[in-house]
Amino acid sequence: MDEDELRRLRSEFPILSRKRYLNSCSLGALPTRGEEALRRFAEEWHEKGASAWYDAWLPAAEELRERVARFLGATPAELALLPTTSSALSVLGESVDYGRRNRVVVTELDFPTQIYQWAVKSEVELVVLESPDGVRIHPEQFEEAVDDRTAFLATSHVFFTTGHRQDLGVLADIAHRAGAFCLIDGYQGAGQVPVDLAESGVDAYTAGPLKWLCGGPGLAYLYVRRERIAHLHPRITSWFAHERPFDFDPHHFAFRTDARRFELGTPAVPTIRTALAAQKLLDPVGMEAIAARNRHLTRRLVTGLEERGFRPNISPEPERRTAIVLVAHDEPARAVEILDGEGIVVDHRPGHVRVSPHFYNTEEEVDTFVEALDRVRAQPRP
Ligand SMILES: Cc1ncc(COP(=O)(O)O)c(C=O)c1O
Repeated sequence: MDEDELRRLRSEFPILSRKRYLNSCSLGALPTRGEEALRRFAEEWHEKGASAWYDAWLPAAEELRERVARFLGATPAELALLPTTSSALSVLGESVDYGRRNRVVVTELDFPTQIYQWAVKSEVELVVLESPDGVRIHPEQFEEAVDDRTAFLATSHVFFTTGHRQDLGVLADIAHRAGAFCLIDGYQGAGQVPVDLAESGVDAYTAGPLKWLCGGPGLAYLYVRRERIAHLHPRITSWFAHERPFDFDPHHFAFRTDARRFELGTPAVPTIRTALAAQKLLDPVGMEAIAARNRHLTRRLVTGLEERGFRPNISPEPERRTAIVLVAHDEPARAVEILDGEGIVVDHRPGHVRVSPHFYNTEEEVDTFVEALDRVRAQPRP
């Protein structure tokens, strides 16, 4: 990505001219074309009323499904549109029989919604792997815990807590050797690191437009590998999962044969519009270029922090680091508030300030954050 390309891309994100925005793992920046898409959505609503479903909104959902599937190395038939990651995990969790295999293996570094899915099921024996260094889980830990009683190996692609990226191929192999299903929460992976789901071997992967894909809240993407779909029978469902939803047949229900069998009703059209607009922006940039830039910015961020004596809580394996960096801090909420007053947007998690640059950020923004955090440390409490 050269300077001109970067300048052009940055001009698409209004927040970048107002703030030093370094919080994309929480919420990706909204591009102007996303805002225009929202206006178009409202105009279609005014102009066409319900016929907008057929002329514009359902076709837009299919275009989004196709683009996202391609972006993630999957096919449109393997992708379901759901409202949230939690609902995507729930519907899969309700798609198997725990009679013969009742163990689910997760980790303490996963986003809690992943863990809660199984914690509420009394028939499930939940194993929560603990991280020896607070940053990653070793593949051998999964190997030890996943056995012939295991229904799901369920964990994250990139840990939201530490940015450590797990190897999907290794996880899928461990699950499959034991006959278990490999379910990955990829919310912090898709859009910040390259994802090739066909090649990865995982059985299911959840993602969404909210964060690194810059498409806003209201939708999640659930990938289920083609060969697995027919074996899964969700116990929560909707008319969208029916093979012929527009028959409105009250007497007969049959699941679709593609991933739409996991859908739970009408999707959020405003988000389909914003997510599609953002996807059209990201597709030509390409995931390799985005990831390369994120690696560059993260290296600079980590070096800058370490030079000033901060301790970023990052993976000890440099090739597994991503653009989510947590910095140990005594008063993270106060630091984030002071930085916000200076127009620098980052976030905090218990005991840490969390920074997440994306491809559209500059070296100057990263350096300014590091200098400001250093200054905050020296600032006496009011
Ligand atoms: C890794 C990960 N999974 C899941 C979620 C939450 O998903 P949802 O609110 O869509 O259920 C988040 C953050 O919001 C996350 O970072």
